[in-house]
Amino acid sequence: MNDLSSKALKLLHENTQTAEYKGKIYKFSVPSKEIYPFQWLWDSCFHAISFSVLGENERAKEELRSLLAKQADDGAIYHITFWKTDKLKDYLFLSTRGFGRFLENRGFWLPLNFLNSPKTTAYTQPPVLAKAAEKIYENSKDKDFVREILPALFKYYRWLYKTRDLDGDNLISILTPIESGLDFCPAYDEAIGYKNKFLPLFLRSRWLQFLNKFIFNFDPYKIYKNGPFHQKDVLFNSIAIQALFSLAYLAEEIGNKEIYDWAHDKAQAGLRSLCEKSYDKETGLFYNLSGKEDKAMKIKTIVSLMPLIISQLPANIARRLVQEHIINQKEFYTPYPVASVSWDEAVFAPDSLVDGHLRIWRGPLSMNTNWFLVHALREHGYADTADEITKKSRELAEKHGFWEFYNPLTGEPQGARDFGWATLVVDM
Ligand code: GLC
Repeated sequence: MNDLSSKALKLLHENTQTAEYKGKIYKFSVPSKEIYPFQWLWDSCFHAISFSVLGENERAKEELRSLLAKQADDGAIYHITFWKTDKLKDYLFLSTRGFGRFLENRGFWLPLNFLNSPKTTAYTQPPVLAKAAEKIYENSKDKDFVREILPALFKYYRWLYKTRDLDGDNLISILTPIESGLDFCPAYDEAIGYKNKFLPLFLRSRWLQFLNKFIFNFDPYKIYKNGPFHQKDVLFNSIAIQALFSLAYLAEEIGNKEIYDWAHDKAQAGLRSLCEKSYDKETGLFYNLSGKEDKAMKIKTIVSLMPLIISQLPANIARRLVQEHIINQKEFYTPYPVASVSWDEAVFAPDSLVDGHLRIWRGPLSMNTNWFLVHALREHGYADTADEITKKSRELAEKHGFWEFYNPLTGEPQGARDFGWATLVVDM
C-alpha cells in the first residue's frame, strides 16, 4: 500500500466511533472529530467506499450497517445521526458554530435540545447508499451482503420517491439547501432570498430552517404547498438516478426481479425527466428547478455538471458538459479543478469568505465531487481529463493532507482538517 493510502486508512480508523444499539455494536466514521463529530449520511457512504477500495470490505459493510440500523419504519434515513447525545449537548452549548447549526431536528427548540435528546435530524442527504453498496459488492463479490441489505435499500429509495417526488415528475425535491449536502452553494441564493442581500446569507439559511420546523413541521407536502423553499436539485437527482441503477444491478445479481424492475424503471424515468426539464440547450448545462413553477436557477455551479455521473446520459449532452464547461478554464477548470462554482460567476469565492465569514461550497473544490466527476469522465471516454484531475487532487492531499475543501486557485486547504471523504482521492 502506498503512503497516501495508508494515511487515508489511518485517518478513517482514527475517526471511527463505536456505539451500542439494541444489543448490537455498530461502527462508523465521523467526518471530522473537531467540527463534525456525529454520523452524516452521505459522508458515511463515502467512508464505506474508501474503506472498501483500501481493502477493508468488512469495515465498509459495518459503515453501511450503522446507517441502516437507524432507518425509520417508513424507510427514511436521516442526514445526521446523533449516536451519542451527550456530545450533542456539549456541541450545542459550547460551540457557536453548533449553536447556529442545529435547527434541523424535531422536538424542542435548540436551547432546549438536551430535553429531548434528538436521535437524528429531520432532513435527509444525497442518496449515495446503493452506489456504496455496489462498490463493496464489486470489491468483495459478497452476495450474502447484498441479500442482507437489499430490502432496506429498496425501502429507503421507495420512501425517497414517495415522499419527495412532490408533483409526480420522477424528480426529487429537497426542502433546504442542507439536504443537497452543499449548504451555502449559490444555486440556492435566489430561492432563499439572498439575492437582494437584505439579510446576510447565514440568517437567510437559518430563517428557512426556522419556518420548516415551526410552521411546516418538516412536512414535505405542506412545504410544497405553502413553503418558501423546495427545489428539484440536479446534484441530488443525479446521485439518486445513479444509485437506482446500482440498486437495479445489485437486485439483478441476486435475482430479485421486483426490485430490479422498480429501480430500473424509476432510474430511466428520472433521467428522462431530468433531461427534459432541467437541461438548458442554450448553455449546455443543467439547472435546479425551484418552486411549483419549476423556475430554472440559472447560475453555474457544480450541481449543473453532476448528471455526467449517470452512465446512461446521452453522449451529446455529456460532450457539451465536458468540453464547454468542465475543461473550460474560465469556468470550472481552475488551476486546481474542479471548482464548486464557475470562476466567471460574480459570487465565486475561492477563499470561501462571504462578508468576512466562512461560507462553504462557493468556489473551493471538494474531493467528493472530484471523485464523482473523475469516474464519470472515464465512463464517458474522457480519460485524459480524469487523469489530470486525479493528479492534481493527489498533489493536494499529499502536500496538505485530507481537508474538507481546497482553494481552486492556490490549492490552500480550508474548512475541517482530517476530513473523512477527502480519502476518496485514493479511488480516482
Ligand atoms: C457540511 C457539508 C455536508 C457534509 C457535512 C459533514 O455541512 O456541506 O455536505 O455532509 O458538512 O461533513
